[in-house]
Amino acid sequence: MTSRDTDWDGVRLHVVTGKGGTGKTTVAGALALALSSGGKKVLLMEVEGRQGIAQLFDVPPLPYAERRIAVAPGSPSGQGEPGGDVFALVADPESALAEYLEMFYGMRHAGTAMTKLGVMDFATTIAPGLRDVLLTGKAAEAVRRKDSARSGGRAYDAVVMDAPPTGRIGRFLNVTTEVSGLAKVGPIRGHADTVQNVIRSPQTVVHFVTVLEEMPVQETLDGIAELRALDGIRPGAVVVNMARPLALPPAQVAAAAGGTLDTSQLALGLKAAGIDDTAGLAGQLAAELSEQARTALGQDVLLQRLAETGQNCYELPWISDGMDLAGLYQLAAALRAQRAA
Ligand SMILES: Nc1ncnc2c1ncn2[C@@H]1O[C@H](COP(=O)(O)OP(=O)(O)OP(=O)(O)O)[C@@H](O)[C@H]1O
Ligand SMILES: [Mg+2]
Repeated sequence: MTSRDTDWDGVRLHVVTGKGGTGKTTVAGALALALSSGGKKVLLMEVEGRQGIAQLFDVPPLPYAERRIAVAPGSPSGQGEPGGDVFALVADPESALAEYLEMFYGMRHAGTAMTKLGVMDFATTIAPGLRDVLLTGKAAEAVRRKDSARSGGRAYDAVVMDAPPTGRIGRFLNVTTEVSGLAKVGPIRGHADTVQNVIRSPQTVVHFVTVLEEMPVQETLDGIAELRALDGIRPGAVVVNMARPLALPPAQVAAAAGGTLDTSQLALGLKAAGIDDTAGLAGQLAAELSEQARTALGQDVLLQRLAETGQNCYELPWISDGMDLAGLYQLAAALRAQRAA
């Protein structure tokens, strides 16, 4: 790791993407918790309207309003590192547009008026680029928001976005290009430019969540390449989620994968454990180990390909007894232990 780790130092907007189902929401939640420790205030933001964050943190469905959903663990004695706060927000383009118009034009109850006028259709159907700029705009607004009562003068120390999947992330973040054909001048264009300045600054990075399987790893590699081509949008960490390392020394993994495990040794081991190898148990065990070892070797190759991108890689364990709040705190601790966040 370099002295200044550009995945985390000075970063205030963490965009979390990845193939569907690899753990974007979970990792975004764990990251928000990890970033909030030490007395920080973090906003965790959802943009796909599925209430994944509420489910993850076991709280009622979240509105378009910032609610505190978790407290990071501080030191129990109250000395040393204090805990922090995680706030959450579910952003939808309609509410974001209403809020924006209200701020910009001082339109009160803009939302109601717009629904009547059918402006919503404009925002959601006719202009998908505008839809995205409203969501990223909300994140940028939270990043830039001031609070003179806090040290540092910012309302939030960091914003974590549970973002769209890898296949859509480039388009989602590349706002200027998407909107410029739509609004060449005026407030929306100005808004888009402000959002771009945040997204294309060193304050913003895009983290990729993956599992060690061919498809999600390939999507991660493609996603990183796509962002690099979008001048100024920076890929950040690669988070390998649900990792299940095989607890065998490398030499034995190689032997198991090659099918050259000594079954008589296995039988002896079983016997020592009080299990009689009458039904060819050692042979079955060897076959099972061999398959697991081949998977492990395949995963090493995938890890290597991820490492070759030059991005920092982190590993989060598979939580075997099902994801719950305790598991989430465990993942946050694992991120902290690897000095991510
Ligand atoms: N480290 C882990 N250990 C065990 N289970 C996990 C882990 N990470 C995520 N999961 C589980 O995997 C499933 C998918 O996770 P999650 O919802 O975070 O993925 P996602 O990428 O946000 O999915 P989607 O694309 O549907 O939004 C969930 O059931 C979650 O609890
Ligand atoms: Mg999700």
